[in-house]
Amino acid sequence: MASWDRMFQRLSFVFFGLILGSVFFSAEAATKKYQFDIQVKNVSRLCHAKPIVTVNGRFPGPTIYVREGDRVLVNVTNHAQYNMSIHWHGLKQYRNGWADGPAYVTQCPIQTGSSYTYGFNVTGQRGTLWWHAHILWLRATVHGAIVIMPKQGTPFPFPQPDRETEILLGEWWHIDVEEVEKQGNKNGLPPNTSDAHTINGKPGPLFPCSEKHTFAMEVEQGKTYLLRIINAALNDELFFGIAGHNLTVVEVDAVYTKPFTTQSILIAPGQTTNVLLKANQVPGRYFMAARPFLDVPLSVDNKTATGIVQYRGIPNTVLPVLPQLPNPNDTKFALSYNKKLRSLDSQQFPANVPLKVDRNLFYTVGFGKDPCPTCVNGTRLVASLNNISFEMPKIGLLQAHYFNIKGVYRTDFPDRPQTTFNYTGAPLTANLGTLTGTRLSKLAFNSTVELVLQDTNLLTVESHPFHLHGYNFFVVGTGIGNFDPAKDPAKYNLVDPIERNTVGVPTGGWTAIRFRADNPGVWFMHCHLELHTGWGLKTAFVVEDGSGSDQTVMPPPKDLPPC
Ligand SMILES: *[C@@H]1O[C@H](CO)[C@@H](O)[C@H](O)[C@H]1NC(C)=O
Ligand SMILES: *[C@@H]1O[C@H](CO)[C@@H](O)[C@H](O)[C@H]1NC(C)=O
Ligand SMILES: *[C@@H]1O[C@H](CO)[C@@H](O)[C@H](O)[C@H]1NC(C)=O
Ligand SMILES: *[C@@H]1O[C@H](CO)[C@@H](O)[C@H](O)[C@H]1NC(C)=O
Ligand SMILES: *[C@@H]1O[C@H](CO)[C@@H](O)[C@H](O)[C@H]1NC(C)=O
Ligand SMILES: *[C@@H]1O[C@H](CO)[C@@H](O)[C@H](O)[C@H]1NC(C)=O
Ligand SMILES: *[C@@H]1O[C@H](CO)[C@@H](O)[C@H](O)[C@H]1NC(C)=O
Ligand SMILES: *[C@@H]1O[C@H](CO)[C@@H](O)[C@H](O)[C@H]1NC(C)=O
Ligand SMILES: *[C@@H]1O[C@H](CO)[C@@H](O)[C@H](O)[C@H]1NC(C)=O
Ligand SMILES: *[C@@H]1O[C@H](CO)[C@@H](O)[C@H](O)[C@H]1NC(C)=O
Ligand SMILES: *[C@@H]1O[C@H](CO)[C@@H](O)[C@H](O)[C@H]1NC(C)=O
Ligand SMILES: *[C@@H]1O[C@H](CO)[C@@H](O)[C@H](O)[C@H]1NC(C)=O
Repeated sequence: MASWDRMFQRLSFVFFGLILGSVFFSAEAATKKYQFDIQVKNVSRLCHAKPIVTVNGRFPGPTIYVREGDRVLVNVTNHAQYNMSIHWHGLKQYRNGWADGPAYVTQCPIQTGSSYTYGFNVTGQRGTLWWHAHILWLRATVHGAIVIMPKQGTPFPFPQPDRETEILLGEWWHIDVEEVEKQGNKNGLPPNTSDAHTINGKPGPLFPCSEKHTFAMEVEQGKTYLLRIINAALNDELFFGIAGHNLTVVEVDAVYTKPFTTQSILIAPGQTTNVLLKANQVPGRYFMAARPFLDVPLSVDNKTATGIVQYRGIPNTVLPVLPQLPNPNDTKFALSYNKKLRSLDSQQFPANVPLKVDRNLFYTVGFGKDPCPTCVNGTRLVASLNNISFEMPKIGLLQAHYFNIKGVYRTDFPDRPQTTFNYTGAPLTANLGTLTGTRLSKLAFNSTVELVLQDTNLLTVESHPFHLHGYNFFVVGTGIGNFDPAKDPAKYNLVDPIERNTVGVPTGGWTAIRFRADNPGVWFMHCHLELHTGWGLKTAFVVEDGSGSDQTVMPPPKDLPPC
């Protein structure tokens, strides 16, 4: 502890909070242009230097600031040795899958030395989203925030904060993440867990060599701060809190919520959460902290990242206080926290929950062990939906759909599992075998869909954050154990369920979501734990065109990367 004093005295502030309504935002809808240069840069954390892939040499990458209604053009130029693609996580991209970004789903990657301009409109959304690489494990360092301000003259539906800041939570490995990924693939096992968690790229003073690597924000007594929190970690769901202060949740995944107050939030990879922080405590120094939630005995990086909230005028010599976060295995907190999340459902921001369902889907989430001749022990772990482990194609699925190229994918993804079993009963250690394939499900334009995601005990139960591209969905129900189609739907919330783009399927439980398939194109759906995505825990929906000329996939941009 003694060495901390010195460390904290030397700590310099990296951030003083963005003043709302600053120069970044124009009054009228405008076109915002950004240049993203994908560059390799040496950075040092935890006393180790290593080259990382960055955007414009920054980690985390630059924030995209827009106003609802703006058009955005991001010219991504790839100077790195890896193929690249960028996903604008949570942006709906109406008819415009070409700008969505997942490699081999909506585009082929931007190859070394090439550029691609992502062009999209920000329509009907406001709040916090984020962007990240959507190829390999590169999103570990290639990510940043997207801040969408409401239209000029439209206030937030909560007390106006005085200032705001983004808080990106991440994971850090000593070695190149691509080496980590390769090692996992070679062993057919999960690779080493991360060496640190980070807050805005910095692990904080609980880690060595962190003098310059601590995020600090200065606050003024009596002021209110909007924190835009993003979980950019690859594999870890995280708790986050600030010592001595409550947080008021007002928005998730760029959808306003009914405000509620909590000591900690739970945030899964892919999710965003906006909270209000009132600087209303005894002026001092307080830690903000993030550490994982994992309620099964699997290996996880359980280390705590910290940053500092410092009241103006308080010297750096005052030792900060640590917050009490829930235990890593606190299932009860996780379930009760998620239950508190409700859509605002106001006249201005209604929750348009589909009440009638055209198509019922039931997908099981499972693990398996498959033969792997190139793996160290001849087997590898795989993950599947309805017993199908997804195989990536060699060209973009959206191109195959749009240009009617045969043989790239099939549209026979089953609506329910072929074998029923006691999904969450005794652990099934026996190898049940897994099918592989590029199998998609076709949805009629503007049909309403209910999808129940059911966790299983195939090898192990685990919590899985599922992300759907191109849409928000409503989380109408969730439960522990096996979904009961006879009893559970009666308990759905069809009034003000939370609307979002990424949802956790609880450990050994299920989650029911509903959405209207009104965005034509090919839309990826996957577990947002990168480890599981790589193991095949993914599929895609082909949403057909509607009959109107404004209900079809737009033509691809001229600079769409070739395969
Ligand atoms: C990064 O550091 C390594 C070793 O210190 C050096 O060989 C390499 O040239 C550096 N790379 C960049 C992009 O600066
Ligand atoms: C994108 O950036 C690259 C590299 O600076 C440049 O050569 C290219 O012309 C830009 N593309 C557009 C559409 O501006
Ligand atoms: C964005 O909006 C402009 C102006 O309304 C329209 O011309 C353009 O087609 C839209 N682009 C996309 C990708 O939706
Ligand atoms: C391979 O099997 C051996 C013997 O059971 C075991 O010690 C080792 O950890 C395994 N390695 C991998 C990568 O599975
Ligand atoms: C993973 O961790 C083990 C044990 O700490 C270490 O020996 C190994 O080098 C690590 N692998 C990588 C790729 O860092
Ligand atoms: C935080 O909220 C809890 C529960 O509502 C309350 O008991 C506590 O006093 C609040 N703490 C602060 C610092 O506002
Ligand atoms: C974190 O994990 C390590 C190794 O798995 C374990 O020894 C330690 O007790 C754990 N710490 C906490 C706080 O759970
Ligand atoms: C959760 O972890 C705590 C501390 O590591 C332990 O005491 C407790 O028994 C665990 N609870 C459950 C339900 O596993
Ligand atoms: C998965 O598919 C394989 C191969 O068809 C089959 O043997 C196995 O029973 C299936 N498992 C489940 C859980 O459906
Ligand atoms: C499923 O397994 C659980 C745990 O073993 C058991 O309690 C439950 O009764 C089983 N359900 C059915 C329908 O067999
Ligand atoms: C989709 O269906 C709903 C309900 O029938 C209807 O109100 C809406 O206009 C339709 N949307 C489109 C784009 O056709
Ligand atoms: C990069 O992408 C192109 C186009 O899909 C592919 O042909 C090439 O093999 C990829 N390179 C690597 C290193 O994966």
